[in-house]
Amino acid sequence: MQAARRFVPFLLFFILAVTIAHARETEKTGVLLVAFGTSVPEAKKAFDNIDAAYKKAFPGSPIVWAFTSQIIRKKLAAEGERVYSISEALDRLAKDGATVVRVQSLHVLAGQEFAEMARSVLLETKKYPDRFKAVYLGRPLLESREDANSVARALSSELADKRESGDAVALMGHGNAAGRGDLVLEGARAALKNADPAFHVASVEGARGFDEELAELKKSGAKTVLLAPFMVVAGDHARNDLAGEEDESWASRLKKAGFKVKTSLKGLGEMNPVVDIFIRHTRESKDNLALEPRKP
Ligand code: CO
Repeated sequence: MQAARRFVPFLLFFILAVTIAHARETEKTGVLLVAFGTSVPEAKKAFDNIDAAYKKAFPGSPIVWAFTSQIIRKKLAAEGERVYSISEALDRLAKDGATVVRVQSLHVLAGQEFAEMARSVLLETKKYPDRFKAVYLGRPLLESREDANSVARALSSELADKRESGDAVALMGHGNAAGRGDLVLEGARAALKNADPAFHVASVEGARGFDEELAELKKSGAKTVLLAPFMVVAGDHARNDLAGEEDESWASRLKKAGFKVKTSLKGLGEMNPVVDIFIRHTRESKDNLALEPRKP
């Protein structure tokens, strides 16, 4: 009888442990990948690559996409392709039985687009508080110096075939006319330059424009410039503003200044070491939007 009584706490503990383990097992994690979007068919290669990598990294989990650009969603819908908004995508995940959602930003850095995305997800989470047990927010690509160094290595190996010694590499980031995104891009620029002094970074819509980059390239002594996007997809900006034929493109302006120009139109999302960073951020996120931030 004594022995049996002593056994009771162990039994209770055992039941509790099994219950917790079972609860964990029954959680179904869904992944929501969020990008601005693109309607350029060749640019979709980056998204296809990311999609395939996530399906491999999260087997059995529903992987759902959302584009934040309404214009692009409408354009694709007119072409017969349905892409969800954030709200629709969360709805889809709930219908697919997800109890925990991991939202992943596919932005290069935490600029304006990321901030808006985070707010949308947060508002949705508050609107339907009982829909998911947790909604984790995965940070964008460049969140640490280590991330920037990894991207620099990925670019170096990706561009190796097209580069000869003495060539400069001019990378086009997006940038924001307002907000702190530009400052993060400056940090990335410093890390890239550290990794490879031939890397030059400027933005198409941000504070550091092409004028500064052109002046820098002239000073560098390089005769040939290899152009590449510093964006997840090689979409409209990469094909027109960077490598396009019109007078204002970086390619045209470089040619006009006497440089020989080469281009590599591959988005960062087409490079697997870059996709691995996104996947790491998805897995590592402990930032549950359904809870108040916990202070010790
Ligand atoms: Co733009």
